[in-house]
Amino acid sequence: MRLKNKVAIVTGAGRGLGKGIALKLAREGAKVVIGDAVERNAHEVAEEIIKGGGSAIAACADVSKRTDVEAMFAAAAAFGPIDILVNNAGINRDGMLHKMSDEAWDKVIAVNLTGAFYCLRLAAQQMRERGYGRIVNIASMSWLGNFGQANYAASKAGIVGLTKTAARELAKKGVTVNAICPGFIDTEMTRSVPQNVWDIMVGKIWAGKVGTPEDIGNVVAFLASDEAAYVTGEVINVSGGMVL
Ligand code: NAI
Repeated sequence: MRLKNKVAIVTGAGRGLGKGIALKLAREGAKVVIGDAVERNAHEVAEEIIKGGGSAIAACADVSKRTDVEAMFAAAAAFGPIDILVNNAGINRDGMLHKMSDEAWDKVIAVNLTGAFYCLRLAAQQMRERGYGRIVNIASMSWLGNFGQANYAASKAGIVGLTKTAARELAKKGVTVNAICPGFIDTEMTRSVPQNVWDIMVGKIWAGKVGTPEDIGNVVAFLASDEAAYVTGEVINVSGGMVL
């Protein structure tokens, strides 16, 4: 129970990595706000936590809409001031750069980057005042560039830039800001790739298997804990050794 009574917001927590992260934070004692654009999924995850004896509320919030993010933070106030923010909500709209539509570019940047900014800005305001906070941003190894992912890679590189800037600005206020780059994790997002691509990806992982949302949740829980007080501005690969 490393996070007993801490208040956490996890975006995109209705399924996949975000759900795994939310369940882990709840098991560690945190009261968790399950943010997601899909209301039904957010409620299901919140109910699962409550049935297991934990505390959670669902907040239907599209992070690319500032007013939704403000409403999600207002809902979190029912639990008290925010201690932990996990910016996890993310999408992809892959395609070659020379054929990429404005819509595919704008949508991915709006959700993955602007959405994280809206959440970070509000969290920074509150956490600066309290002199405490833990922020974890879910980036991707694609931030270094990836074939067919110009929009996604740019959004995730932006997340790394945001992380390192926020870490500098908030360090003296008792707030840490770190990024995690998951490798290839078994979620609906990755299950949408063709089998041959799946096999190629798994072939690149030295651990010889895909990761699980729990693998990511475990590292988030550490970064969100008091034990990680002296870790900030880091970009941590959690990938089973996918890139070494
Ligand atoms: P997923 O597609 O399975 O789940 C994403 C969740 O975010 C869904 O519940 C969805 O409803 C929600 N969401 C989408 N747009 C939203 C919005 N505008 N506002 C609020 N919620 C929204 O994806 P997955 O795999 O769980 O990915 C989660 C994060 O991890 C993303 O940021 C993704 O880029 C990142 N990631 C995932 C990897 C993987 O291997 N699965 C690898 C590297 C990074």
